[in-house]
Amino acid sequence: MSDKAAWFVTAASRGIGLELVTRLSASPASLVIAACRNPEGAPKLEAAAKAAKGELHVVTLDTGDEESIRGVADQVAEILGDRGLDYLVNMAAITEGDDKAFGFSPEGFIQSMRVNVLGPALLAQALLPFLEKGKRKVIVNVTSGLASIGLNFGDKNATYSISKTALNMLTYKQAMQRPDLVAFVIDPGWVKTDMGGPNAFITTSECIDLLLSWIPDAGPERSGKFFNNKGEVLPW
Ligand SMILES: NC(=O)c1ccc[n+]([C@@H]2O[C@H](COP(=O)([O-])OP(=O)(O)OC[C@H]3O[C@@H](n4cnc5c(N)ncnc54)[C@H](OP(=O)(O)O)[C@@H]3O)[C@@H](O)[C@H]2O)c1
Repeated sequence: MSDKAAWFVTAASRGIGLELVTRLSASPASLVIAACRNPEGAPKLEAAAKAAKGELHVVTLDTGDEESIRGVADQVAEILGDRGLDYLVNMAAITEGDDKAFGFSPEGFIQSMRVNVLGPALLAQALLPFLEKGKRKVIVNVTSGLASIGLNFGDKNATYSISKTALNMLTYKQAMQRPDLVAFVIDPGWVKTDMGGPNAFITTSECIDLLLSWIPDAGPERSGKFFNNKGEVLPW
């Protein structure tokens, strides 16, 4: 059996997800399954796969599509063989931008719940047998500070905030149901990506430096909690 840490990361085509899989796969100690909707349209991911010193496997996954989520388990089984999965990172998300509680688009709301909440929930269900066989058994659901009522961000980004707050509760429920797993949510910070925009505070590289300084060692004491990118607890 391999001693490599096995990671499954969604949204590997760009942004924070791309930086994470690029960084992880630079180490021979990692096996990374990088999931994205359209690998043919992800040239930076292709470049990361070519430069990888560890194992980097690219799989096709639309986290807004139940059939696609169910289908990915077979691909994971083929890649992992009798190895387990150590870390599942649910990174993929969409935003409706700065909409409001009185006046959002119903279609945008449903699609946000589908991609930002239901997708991570169903993916964790589909990959649970592999996590059960993993040494670390960690589920990292990537949320946002905007999900926090305690941080009080006011009326902005209503749909996105509601979906991420639901993701927070999903994660709490996962942690409560399965104390053998380590499931937590992280706010990556305000990051310069297509979603974060050019005025954000940190680059994807700075973000991943912070996240990889503590997530690989995350143990049961982290489970069911909400953290910033430094691993400090945030209020719900
Ligand atoms: N950037 C920030 O400041 C910030 C702040 C707080 C939280 N976050 C969170 O951090 C995570 C990463 O954000 P980011 O800034 O890197 O976002 P981004 O640059 O906008 O990239 C979004 C990623 O999600 C993928 N995605 C969207 N819908 C998908 C679907 N249905 N199936 C599969 N993949 C899908 C995109 O894939 P395609 O290339 O196929 O579209 C892309 O890889 C998200 O969960 C976001 O909510 C970001």
